[in-house]
Amino acid sequence: MSRFPKDFMWGGAIAANQAEGAYREDGKGLSITDVTQCGPTRYIDYELEVDPAKYYPSHEAIDFYHTYKDDLKLMAEMGFTVFRTSINWARLFPTGEEDEPLQAGIDFYRDLFDTMHELGMEPLVTMSHYETPLALTKKYNSWASREMIDIFDKFARACFENFGDQVKYWLTFNEINNIFKAPYLAAGMDVRGMDDFMPVAFQAAHHVFVSNAKTVKLCHEMLPDAQIGCMLSLSNIYPGTCKPEDVMAAYNARRRSLFFGDVMLRGSYPGYGWKMMRDCGVELSIEPGDLELIAENTCDYLGFSYYRTSAFSDGDSQVFSTAGGVGHENPYLKASEWGWQMDPMGLRYTCNELWDRYQKPLFIVENGLGAVDTVEDDGSIHDTYRIDYLRDHIEAMADAVEDGCEIMGYTWWGPIDIVSAGTGEMKKRYGFVYVDRDNEGNGTGKRLKKDSFVYYKKVVASNGEDL
Ligand code: BG6
Repeated sequence: MSRFPKDFMWGGAIAANQAEGAYREDGKGLSITDVTQCGPTRYIDYELEVDPAKYYPSHEAIDFYHTYKDDLKLMAEMGFTVFRTSINWARLFPTGEEDEPLQAGIDFYRDLFDTMHELGMEPLVTMSHYETPLALTKKYNSWASREMIDIFDKFARACFENFGDQVKYWLTFNEINNIFKAPYLAAGMDVRGMDDFMPVAFQAAHHVFVSNAKTVKLCHEMLPDAQIGCMLSLSNIYPGTCKPEDVMAAYNARRRSLFFGDVMLRGSYPGYGWKMMRDCGVELSIEPGDLELIAENTCDYLGFSYYRTSAFSDGDSQVFSTAGGVGHENPYLKASEWGWQMDPMGLRYTCNELWDRYQKPLFIVENGLGAVDTVEDDGSIHDTYRIDYLRDHIEAMADAVEDGCEIMGYTWWGPIDIVSAGTGEMKKRYGFVYVDRDNEGNGTGKRLKKDSFVYYKKVVASNGEDL
């Protein structure tokens, strides 16, 4: 008998801006990631215009906008019962401020979701995954302004009206806890040149919390059978040692992410959150009704990404960030080629931590290994490293289920190679399906099955037992 529930959802996850390409097609406006370069400082060094002298892999990405029918067939061949993607906001509202959504955008996503259903997959849809229309960044500095709440409300309403009969599982904002580390990517805010952007970031987070609550309310009113979750980056942080000061420092670092879950799942600002804001000199501007709205409209479930862990000690830089990006190396763990320390046991630990804290269903909506793959002369790709990562993390997830955690499903990140969010490269591949395209735009775009394709198919067919 499987350790996973009968209705456990297995699948994969992508984001529109990392897969679709077609970045100006059918009237789509520019979104924030359309102007970010390819390289390790992608979300720090950017201009608010497309530079015609540069090549941006994301402009074509894997051309999913045109290839989704065939690509989804490959996902169906692995037995996926769920597929996560996002709606690129600027495909519906090119500047974010049009009165009505573009019909071409609606048609595209309706057909995408129909195709998923035809192939036996439930769409899991992120409403905002690093895809704020660039015009909103230029005009309002995005979530730094309260105007965004109404602007997003119009987008949310259009999503529920047009796709509500097709989509049962929604997620509001992707990894909004990255607002401190990557304010541009996570919230479309351009903070270059600001000496201290923490007050702006906390104020923006408040706007997002109000917007999240409004969206949850709207979803529950318009689509009573749907479920709507929040999505956070929750790779974990361990104390560097058992020295009490290190334990406290690591806990405080962790709270910088849990803060977001506490507001969106429990419905109020936690006490330590007010202290964090005081320490950063933040005086939050809250309008009458905001806190009530947040309290009354909490998310139905917690979607989260988990890739890695890091260690954190007293004295480590208190950069506001999620795990991996903060603290220091853990001597007990090995790292990926991109320096991400792999930690399957940490997934079990994290599921238990989150289930104990929130008592709301968890959905592991991102987990995966970015690596360089080699295509052999015969077209085969022996990605044993990816299979090992997958096996170990599914084992850990099964342990978490046995521990009593309620987990709705698992969507591997990038089941088909896509452009990296962090670096904008094609070279950092997560897929079970290889896409013949490189950082410079060379390649035929052809799809090849890696060894992990066969492996994941077996895992899904056995409901996680045949590992
Ligand atoms: C998550 C994001 O943080 O990590 C994804 O939600 C992203 O968009 C994924 O692609 C992996 O990160 P990267 O930088 O390797 O693409």
